[in-house]
Amino acid sequence: MTTFDERPATAAETEVFGQDTVDRARAIIARYPRSRSALLPMLHLVQSVQGHVSQAGIAFCAQQLDLSNAEVSAVATFYTMYKRKPCGEHLVSVCTNTLCAALGGDDIYAKLREHLGSDGKPLGHEETSGTPGEPGSITLEHAECLAACDLGPVLQVNYEYYDNQTASSALELVKALQSGQKPAPTRGAPLSDFRKVELQLAGFFEDNESDVDGPSAAAETVRGAKIANEKGWTAPREPDSVEFPALPEKK
Ligand code: FES
Repeated sequence: MTTFDERPATAAETEVFGQDTVDRARAIIARYPRSRSALLPMLHLVQSVQGHVSQAGIAFCAQQLDLSNAEVSAVATFYTMYKRKPCGEHLVSVCTNTLCAALGGDDIYAKLREHLGSDGKPLGHEETSGTPGEPGSITLEHAECLAACDLGPVLQVNYEYYDNQTASSALELVKALQSGQKPAPTRGAPLSDFRKVELQLAGFFEDNESDVDGPSAAAETVRGAKIANEKGWTAPREPDSVEFPALPEKK
């Protein structure tokens, strides 16, 4: 069992995040030999409470990890999974990288922007339709390659995959999310909501650990390995030593 510091939280610590979050923060910190190594899951933890990394969240992490606010901000603004504006109940990420874009990802993104926009103005990147955190609210973003090119065009909802999409299937999916439904992802864990997933990314599963054990490999992804296995093909053995060519001389 993870152990952690059991001193009562200070008023400043609990002001925004509450004793539960302070306890979870200490449990995260206890996983690492050096407290600063806990920063990434700590940022997911603050997102699980507020739906984004607020200034209070930055100050909370800095205080817990003995870092400066600037050090925490530098990390929070580097990674795209940390959001600086409050997210909706669901985060919809549409892959618009080269392969998905060519297969229809750009059309999907344009269709969802138009549907989720208001007053004739399409929704922008990382903007939210509805009130952030409220049921049916959706934050839309375009994403770089989501590592499922063989199943493109793909999108993710709260980082769960919906493969082989079209503009109309993506629109149906988003309409279902807006009306409170949670259509099953193509593979992986059942759909929950953005804040719950952030808590899981911080390492807390609230008795739902089996949720993340859903089958994640698609038939397309493992087809090559299956054929090679059936035919007895193997990769050439790695040589014991390799002689690298000399580097050109610097001028
Ligand atoms: S380009 Fe879309 S998943 Fe790779």
